[in-house]
Amino acid sequence: MSRNLEFIQELPKAELHLHIEGSLGPELMFTLAKRNKVEIKFTSVEEIHLAYNFSNLQDFLDIYYAGASVLINEQDFYDLTWDYLEKCSRENVKHVEIFFDPQTHTDRGIAFKTVIDGIHNALSDGESKLGISFKLIMCFLRHLDEESAFKTLEESLPFKDKIAAVGLDSSEVGHPPSKFKNVFRKSLEEGFLTVAHAGEEGPPEYIWEALDLLKVSRIDHGVRALEDDKLVARLVKEQIPLTVCPLSNIKLCVFKEMKDHNIGELLKNGLSISINSDDPAYFGGYLNQNYLETMNGLNLTFEEIGAIAKFSFKGSFLTSDLIDNHLKEIDHLVNKYS
Ligand code: ADE
Ligand code: ZN
Repeated sequence: MSRNLEFIQELPKAELHLHIEGSLGPELMFTLAKRNKVEIKFTSVEEIHLAYNFSNLQDFLDIYYAGASVLINEQDFYDLTWDYLEKCSRENVKHVEIFFDPQTHTDRGIAFKTVIDGIHNALSDGESKLGISFKLIMCFLRHLDEESAFKTLEESLPFKDKIAAVGLDSSEVGHPPSKFKNVFRKSLEEGFLTVAHAGEEGPPEYIWEALDLLKVSRIDHGVRALEDDKLVARLVKEQIPLTVCPLSNIKLCVFKEMKDHNIGELLKNGLSISINSDDPAYFGGYLNQNYLETMNGLNLTFEEIGAIAKFSFKGSFLTSDLIDNHLKEIDHLVNKYS
């Protein structure tokens, strides 16, 4: 094992940007398709890997929504989440804040309760058996209308105690945050925190809208912020966390290669960035692979990677005493390696 990988493996990390449906790997996809008698268009793992060649976000989303059709019963959502948590445990991920997309399932006739109970029961077991703390974030699909998001919010209210925040994902360009300002206002009134994908493919204006209209605590992706100096100054001043997903950005052609990624520049500009895996089953790597390829591709130091891991906890919805414990451990490890 390289010294970089050894360091990353030992490093305590939080994952703040993970779509649970995006952790559905080929093996579990085949198992669930068989168990639920759902037809999928792939016949082998090789075929799946060949299909996972995307030119942009929409290309990926079409395949991602089709893949989710194998998830039918509460046990399926449990197994999906448990699979992910076992990987987290092996990678020394200590805390996760994961997204789920209820509309992807309720629009196929799956009950909201089936989805959330399966995911939440696995997360609770992950906390007690694997020691991984968690928060759950419910995303609205931005290619659908605000009325559908309102209906989803309504459906979520009996499960409010299980959901920390609402988010916004799916096809970004042409669906600005402003389209969802009313449902986010209502979500805030109901006591949810808010986050939103912005500045992945969309322009910096979408990040301004997410901050001003949706009152977000974090920006998911946000890599296009660097195109706007005033925006960078605001993000730095208000210490708004950006949940960056390096391998996702390469797979979806936001950057051509890792050496072209702007994460090093974001860090140098004083932004609070974390590294995350987004949809690891589709983008070629879970959290440690994202850390490793970023560190190697951009020649980042142990201190810089340590700072990013610290931002992953500082940007989380954990209480400050828990955050401080994780930060101390990271400092200790960075000292050991530097
Ligand atoms: N849904 C799942 N992954 C996504 C991404 N990277 N951007 C927007 N929506 C998503
Ligand atoms: Zn995402």
